Amino acid sequence: MKLIIAEDYTELSRIAADIVENQVLLKPDSCLGTVTGGSPAGMYLELVRRSREEGLDLSEISVINTDEYAGLSGDHPQSYRYYLEHRFLDPCKIPGERAAVPRGDAGDLEQECRRYEAFCRSHPADLQILGMGHTGHIGFNEPEDHFPEGSHIVSLAPETMAANAAYFESGEQMPTQAVTVGIGTIMGAKRILLLVSGSSKAEITYRFLCGKITPRVPATILRFHPAVTAVIDKDALSVVREKEPERLDLRAGGRKE
Ligand code: GLP
Repeated sequence: MKLIIAEDYTELSRIAADIVENQVLLKPDSCLGTVTGGSPAGMYLELVRRSREEGLDLSEISVINTDEYAGLSGDHPQSYRYYLEHRFLDPCKIPGERAAVPRGDAGDLEQECRRYEAFCRSHPADLQILGMGHTGHIGFNEPEDHFPEGSHIVSLAPETMAANAAYFESGEQMPTQAVTVGIGTIMGAKRILLLVSGSSKAEITYRFLCGKITPRVPATILRFHPAVTAVIDKDALSVVREKEPERLDLRAGGRKE
């Protein structure tokens, strides 16, 4: 795994946008695996700016999102389809039909998982972008006693509910379940870009980088993938720096401060 230490969230977002831009320059019709949430928000803003001001052409890419809240339709403002359309697809002129997001409002969610998994298997991501939740989740793969292989329905962990409640109106009922691609689906990507920012992620970042590989911290499995770049800012690395600073210097390919 290559670790890039970013000064702060702004630098993390710029480095992430550089990596996506390079991917698209090399292969204009790249398939990008995407996530939503706070971690990639600055990267999307920067990609939109580059597409508007610098002629970055993203119009040929396709997009496969990792997850969606159960029960929300794509036009619900808190749905992940809505987030992607408004923050990335529309402003970058990426046709909506080239973006796949699980249908959270499907009548039969089990069937929707099977459909989505088949689609993901036939469209492996050239670059899978990921954030990491406070539980160590990737996509919505919460801590479990095993690594789930394919797309499935998940019950959200209490910490995840608490972290994501901020995005919902007060009094609004937040979904308690989601549809997510599996760990196997994510590990099928050719390259992976993991973004982690902020002191609230410092403890889980320590467990991600220094703890044992376990489904109790799902992101740890990424250490087995052959082509992962993790861009992590200094605030998120504060516990690693305190407890095992040598990790930051020894990791192959890591950029020293
Ligand atoms: C969310 C999403 C994930 C995201 C992760 C981290 O709830 N379902 O796709 O990557 O949790 O979120 P954030 O970047 O907002 O911390």
